[in-house]
Formats: sequence, C-alpha cells, structure tokens
Amino acid sequence: MKFEILTLFPEMFEGVLGSSILNKAQERDLINVDTINIRDYATDKHKQADDYPYGGGAGMVMKPEPIFRAIEDLSIGENVPVIFLTPQGKTFNQKMAKDFAKKERLVLLCGHYEGVDQRVRDELVTHEVSIGDFVLTGGELPAMILVDAISRMVSGVLGSDESYIEDSFYHGILDYPQYTRPQEFRGLEVPSILLSGNHAKIARWRRKEALKKTLVRRADLLEEVKLSLEDQEILTE
Ligand code: ADE
Repeated sequence: MKFEILTLFPEMFEGVLGSSILNKAQERDLINVDTINIRDYATDKHKQADDYPYGGGAGMVMKPEPIFRAIEDLSIGENVPVIFLTPQGKTFNQKMAKDFAKKERLVLLCGHYEGVDQRVRDELVTHEVSIGDFVLTGGELPAMILVDAISRMVSGVLGSDESYIEDSFYHGILDYPQYTRPQEFRGLEVPSILLSGNHAKIARWRRKEALKKTLVRRADLLEEVKLSLEDQEILTE
C-alpha cells in the first residue's frame, strides 16, 4: 500500500510515521508513505502556494497550479483515490478504512487556511473525507488518522493478521473488556470466567459484554448490524 500525501507541512508527519507500528510497517515494506511538499510545485519565485480569495473574505485559499502540478507529477491512473481532508467531507469510519485498505495506492491532499481552490476539488479530488464535526487548522492530523487506521488493516502490519478483526467497530459493535495480569490488583479481580479455560463460555461472555456496552453507549450501531438469534438471547439473559 502506497500513500502519497500532499501537504504544505511535511515535517508534521515525521513523529507519527517514524514511530511504532507505522515505522515498522515501512521498514518491512508493507506500506510506503511519501510526503510531498506542495510548495515545491509553486511556479513563482516566492514559492507562493496560497492567495487571497476572489470576492473577498477572511483568510487565504490554496492556489490550484501547485496542486495540479504535484498531482500530475504522480502520474496516477483512473483508479487511484485522491482524498481531500475537509470537515465538509463524508465522516470517516471503519468501513471506509476497510475499503481504502483494498487499494494499492492512495493520494491524500491536506488543505490549510480557508481551503483550496474549488477547481482542485472539481477536477482532481475523488473523495472528500472528514474525521468529525469539528474544524482543525489543517488536513495533516486527519491524514495521519487515515494512514494509521488504513495501514493497520493491511495484511501483516499488525503482529497477527487477526488482531484488527477483534477491534471495536470491525463487526459493527464495540469491543469487549480486556484484562491482563495480575489476577488481582488492589482488590480488583479479573472476571473468573476468563480464567476458566472454557473457550465457548468465554466467547459468549465477551459477546455479551460487547453487546451490552454497545447498547449503552452506541445503540445507533445496533441498528446497522444484524443481531443473530443467539445475540438476542444473550442480550435478554
Ligand atoms: N480539516 C480541518 N478540519 C478537518 C476535519 N474535521 N476533518 C478533515 N479535515 C479537516
């Protein structure tokens, strides 16, 4: 999986890409992340990447020419998504991460200031994605969030290929509670069923806890998933 990130601030990505699982995934060539400085594609001598908005108003707008040149330089075909990070986009979720993880290559465009020239969005962008109903100073943090969420679904990136399958949201519901040693900590005990060695009972307990948590915190998610008869039974126990 190759990510190409167009940004005015490539240095913002260094910590995230240079650490932990994303760093290892790059070392192992499971993912490849290039940050491209849009300013390098500015044509004038001041390397200007933004300008005043036509019609007036506050703030600056990112100019079309450097972004067009930067994306044309990537020589992408029809099938490569060009994702613009914006609070006006479709809200990112696990299903989108899963779908994007099936692609071989993704281009992420980070906006700044008051936004980018509309012609970029009309002609180059294939997807507009938001990470939530709040406004950040730019698209860099959202781009990092996409790279992280998508990469961990790429085969081999997590220690075991199955670990993301247990995630909250993967099956459309929240995750069950996890415990590790010690068995008793400051008088707080690990639920005894987890020590029982009875895998069927453990699975049923975990499913119940996950369903209960989802019901209390995110009942909206249960409208989307089809609960099995067993789930309905577990919930009414
Ligand atoms: N840029 C600024 N705010 C954003 C958000 N909430 N999601 C995606 N991109 C953004």
